Amino acid sequence: MTVLTGSRSGARVERLPLARYTTLGVGGEAEVWFVENHAQLAEAMEQPYRVLGGGSNLVIADEGVPERVIRLAGPLAERDLEPDAALSTPDEVVTGWVGGGVPLPGLIRQLQRLGLSGLEGTVGIPAQVGGAVWMNAGTRYGEMFDGLHTIEIATPQGVRQVTPADLHWGYRDSGIPRGHVVTRVRLKLRRAAPDEVLARMDFADHARRGQPKMKTPGCAFKNPGGVSAGKLIDEAGLKGTRVGNALIAPEHANFIVNLGGATAADVHALLDVIRARVTVPMELEYELWPDRGPA
Ligand code: FAD
Ligand code: EPU
Repeated sequence: MTVLTGSRSGARVERLPLARYTTLGVGGEAEVWFVENHAQLAEAMEQPYRVLGGGSNLVIADEGVPERVIRLAGPLAERDLEPDAALSTPDEVVTGWVGGGVPLPGLIRQLQRLGLSGLEGTVGIPAQVGGAVWMNAGTRYGEMFDGLHTIEIATPQGVRQVTPADLHWGYRDSGIPRGHVVTRVRLKLRRAAPDEVLARMDFADHARRGQPKMKTPGCAFKNPGGVSAGKLIDEAGLKGTRVGNALIAPEHANFIVNLGGATAADVHALLDVIRARVTVPMELEYELWPDRGPA
């Protein structure tokens, strides 16, 4: 680990292996900027950059990436769930600001305990709030845009606040351009009995029982037209296909898992096998760093 100096705004800058920041456990080094406020973020955005959330949708090259990698930290990874008195009603709560760097799983558990309903369908998604909002992560039991009131977005041109109605969002898509950083959000939730929220969380979680438990970035392809991409890959007979130390999971064919020591090249090769064998066009859900054109 090398601590780099030279940030005017006081951001911590280190050269780090990105593998440790991804759920796949693959990826070489990059210059990581840990930004705690808007001034630090603005400085980080002065040069080409990428934004790293929970690293749960990323396949990062073994050579790493040349751009700065921005990670939200400090106050941008903290939450204020106090109801805003001016905006909340007896049935509905608008919270204070929740940082884009807050881990989603802990937030979902906390909302359940507080009896705040709306986001429990996203249980089990190992993202950060900013990454989950950027992708509109979700399951068939709910998605991030079910519980958003305001989204704060930073770009090199400045910071602005938008509401879901301002964006063209949909399945796995927030409509927020790549590189625009979701710094904070305010949540809009319904008051409910904690037991009721827990029951809905358990129900959504149950749908994951067939998903593999190994190192993975989740589903490789988006579901085309609502059809399960996993089912299509399965029907193409590809479950259990292995390249190097990466494997198409026998439990669910849309998951690629790292058996230990997999490389990004192994994963790319499996993605190419899937594209060659499944005839229905499918859009990649994984994000490849650096970007890689079609094979
Ligand atoms: P990262 O993987 O770090 O980044 C993904 C993209 O988001 C990148 O383009 C990155 O630049 C951008 N990004 C990250 N943070 C920000 C930010 N603050 N502002 C702007 N852009 C940002 N997804 C689902 O939708 N549903 C599921 O059920 C689901 N289950 C999963 C289960 C497992 C076991 C795993 C490993 C993954 C699963 N995923 C699922 C995929 C993944 O969790 C989602 O795609 C999630 O939205 C990625 O968020 P992240 O914070 O990890 O982002
Ligand atoms: N199926 C197969 N073979 C497989 C996989 C699935 O036949 O290998 C069948 C199942 O038997 C079931 C149907 O396909 O009948 C749907 O499967 P599943 O319930 O697993 O849902 P999915 O559509 O494959 C989606 C999301 C998951 C999310 C689950 C649960 C996408 C791309 N995937 O999977 O999200 O967790 O629903 O809601 O939308 C992710 O996006 O990374 C992700 C994991």
